[in-house]
Amino acid sequence: MQVAVKRDKPEQVAVDVLVVFLRQEKSLPPKSAVLQLDARLVGRMRDYLDSGDFSGALNSTVLLRTNGKIQAPRVLLVGLGKPDAFKIDVLRQASATAATAARRLGVSSVALVPPTGDVAPVEVGQALTEGALLGLYTLKKFKTATDNEDKDNLREIALLAHGNTQRALENGVQRGQIIAAAVNMARDLSNSPGNEINPSYLAQQAQEVAAKTALRCHVLDVDGMREHGMGCLLGVAQGSDQPPAFIILEHAPHGAKEPPIVLVGKGITFDSGGISIKPAANMEDMKMDMSGGAAVLGTMQALAQLGYPRRVVGLVPSSENLPNGKAVKPGDILRAMSGKTVEVINTDAEGRLILADALAYAVQEFKPACIVDLATLTGAVVVALGSQATGMMGTDKAMMDRLRAAGDASAERVWELPLFEEYSKQIKSDFADIKNVSSGREAGSIIGGAFLKEFVGDTPWVHLDIAGTAWTRENRAYIPKGATGVGIRLLVTALEDMVEEPAQPAAKGARPRVAARPKTTATAKTS
Ligand code: BES
Ligand code: ZN
Ligand code: ZN
Repeated sequence: MQVAVKRDKPEQVAVDVLVVFLRQEKSLPPKSAVLQLDARLVGRMRDYLDSGDFSGALNSTVLLRTNGKIQAPRVLLVGLGKPDAFKIDVLRQASATAATAARRLGVSSVALVPPTGDVAPVEVGQALTEGALLGLYTLKKFKTATDNEDKDNLREIALLAHGNTQRALENGVQRGQIIAAAVNMARDLSNSPGNEINPSYLAQQAQEVAAKTALRCHVLDVDGMREHGMGCLLGVAQGSDQPPAFIILEHAPHGAKEPPIVLVGKGITFDSGGISIKPAANMEDMKMDMSGGAAVLGTMQALAQLGYPRRVVGLVPSSENLPNGKAVKPGDILRAMSGKTVEVINTDAEGRLILADALAYAVQEFKPACIVDLATLTGAVVVALGSQATGMMGTDKAMMDRLRAAGDASAERVWELPLFEEYSKQIKSDFADIKNVSSGREAGSIIGGAFLKEFVGDTPWVHLDIAGTAWTRENRAYIPKGATGVGIRLLVTALEDMVEEPAQPAAKGARPRVAARPKTTATAKTS
């Protein structure tokens, strides 16, 4: 899909559909391009508002024929909702509504008239681009063509610049394209079945991401894992015929050697539960148990392409969780890379096992400035927060404040759960240092967090449990059902907010930095 910025006036642009965004209020915006356009349309837009036939409610639409009064044969009105409820996400949603409506019409080109207001044009450009490209996402690869049904002809989306907004809009479009491509790549990985996406495939995907950016990629195989003493990852992997992989991606702009920000993503490419096998109902959804890993791959790709100025490392421990004759059993004791011994009570709590080794690897190999992990870790977080927020736990208040602010700004919200000391007592084992689950079902997500905390030492660390937010059963404005690609927009926003200095020269082979959006208001300073 091509997204471009054009200087044409709305009434002159030659496209199949002209999209006009309108707020839920009685009048058209004063002194605006929309008002001029309405004059050409002899007041038809105004008529729709006055009559109440179009209210401007968020994501509502009306299609008008223009009968030669302007260049485009149709105008699509798209509602932005009440002015006092306006936030940047409204633009993502409305743009997705416009783009998907255009696709349904079978047309090939649309032009969007960006709404004017308080929002900076770079943010408008980014939000409209993200919304359209995320909303149009589909995974067609596994469907054989059904004739006719699919009349997807949409090829071109133009944003119409007014005044001196062109450069800023273009910048926003470029940022939006980078981010949407990363999110849609992550969605592809999570939606694709486990017989295609296995640990080796994920590793190959990481190599491909590195090949097209300036990222460095290194993959540890079983021997490498043995050398590092990754007994927990190897323990989970031993129940499957597919070899595990430990993916390391590094973004080191201008050869930066500073302590990196480390991102860790759970990469279980299928979670059957292992010997503690899961019930059959909905087990097919467990192909998405690598969504944390996909988010890390996508975030690394986006940061590289955006020319992010700080050093960042992405780690994805990847394995299947299956119950063959060699599989880890309840009662087995594994030794993690940190040296801690872990009694496996439940083989379905495998995510924390593979993350234990990845967190220890991060601490030992990189001495990071901070670590953020993303994992579809517990069903309990779905019970607690549903699909509206990611569960957040951690040891660093400033980082959590930053992620909360980034969550609000990116509409990938997070909500904190406590990690009181007392929870850690519940994972003491009679036979090993710790066990991988507690005795009851209480505070399931927090127990997962408390387990991970054992492996981060005093490195500032935040754990994001995305089990509820990585997958949706209903279509949303710019999130079609299935994998959401959650985490990438959140992390890019949070990491960009950590950068105080202006753009620095990018590494050789990296793209020049794509200027950041204006800062979101993080409520706390870094420690
Ligand atoms: N991958 C699952 C968690 C999950 C559940 C992800 C639902 C997405 C949707 C994880 O490995 C798991 O099975 N966790 C167990 C932990 C339990 C054994 C302590 C769970 O949540 O039941
Ligand atoms: Zn599991
Ligand atoms: Zn799992």
